[in-house]
Amino acid sequence: MKNKIAQLFFLALISTIFFDCQNNPGKQTNEKMNIKKNLYGDVDGKKVFQFTLTNENGMIVKLINYGGIVTHLLTPDKEGKLEDVVLGFDSLQQYLDETPYFGAIVGRYGNRIAKGKFELDGKTHQLATNNGPNHLHGGVKGFDKVVWDADDFIFPDRAGVILTYLSKDGEEGYPGNLAVKVTYTLTNDNELKIDYEATTDKPTIVNLTHHSYFNLEGQGNGNILDHQLQLMANRYVPVDETLIPTGELHSVQGSAMDFTAPHSIGSRIAEVEGGYDHTWELDNFNSEKMRLVARVTSPESGRVMEVYTDQPGIQFYTGNFLDGSLSGKGGKVYHKHYGFCLETQHYPDSPNQPNFPSVVLRPGEKYETQTVYKFESGGEGL
Ligand code: GLA
Repeated sequence: MKNKIAQLFFLALISTIFFDCQNNPGKQTNEKMNIKKNLYGDVDGKKVFQFTLTNENGMIVKLINYGGIVTHLLTPDKEGKLEDVVLGFDSLQQYLDETPYFGAIVGRYGNRIAKGKFELDGKTHQLATNNGPNHLHGGVKGFDKVVWDADDFIFPDRAGVILTYLSKDGEEGYPGNLAVKVTYTLTNDNELKIDYEATTDKPTIVNLTHHSYFNLEGQGNGNILDHQLQLMANRYVPVDETLIPTGELHSVQGSAMDFTAPHSIGSRIAEVEGGYDHTWELDNFNSEKMRLVARVTSPESGRVMEVYTDQPGIQFYTGNFLDGSLSGKGGKVYHKHYGFCLETQHYPDSPNQPNFPSVVLRPGEKYETQTVYKFESGGEGL
């Protein structure tokens, strides 16, 4: 009798698990929100840790406190199969040797500033120039190349890491001590949330962003030209040959910059020299409200990524400078267009463009913005 009950109980258990899996193809495990911390190496005499965040659907985000780099991001496809959808490396040394900002936090000013020069309150500041004649992504040693202090946290519905860094007055030429805080949070809704905060003791400029290269078919698995993209943006920021804005904003209508209706990234990329590396002015750019600004679908895998932000612009970059010279995770070789970036931010060269929204931060003010990358599966293709 006891045996019979045990058998029945066992059968019920098996069918519950089976039923559960059938109904939640995205749900891989019966895991609870979880966080692990492992030593990853050291840089500048400081310890670098890798944090592994896992949510109850089995989605995994790994990040390190060197550069605030997201090294791995595993999400389910339409069959529930997990795959790593960000480009990156297997070791800290490779990130130290050479990386085109894979997965990093970029600052103090993400994107370019013409000739590394700007004027603030009548004073001219000269920043490091590290991209031809221009300043790019915070200079020679930007926030992507420093070791941040890190504290992790966990709740039943979310887990994350709080990264803090004090950028000293004069670092890379920027005025003011800037106290920066970046919080990465993984939620049970398959969102990776990034909260940015900063305060200063002198007037300065700030424009922080995140530089993951995504490939929703899995990192190293071909190019992203058949991914379908929609950008909630009716205007873009034209640039000169050194990628500095001309100061105008153009309508996307009828051009290869028009992603207002979803279509494949590759369909008109040949019309854009080198590929996409531009900023779009997001609709309702001055609302400062969180809204859906981009949606990407990979038809094969059914993975969908949505981007939400309160920022005025987004840099869409199609990995144009990847040329097969970098070997990434698992020895995968990264060729041109093997990943795309959607970097939420202010427009390039804003400090020199009076018509662009301001990037000035003053003592007593708080820079506070949020971006969310949300993952789903079951996208049908468009
Ligand atoms: C940004 C820039 C690109 C390139 C990459 C890094 O997205 O806009 O031009 O510099 O970073 O390679």
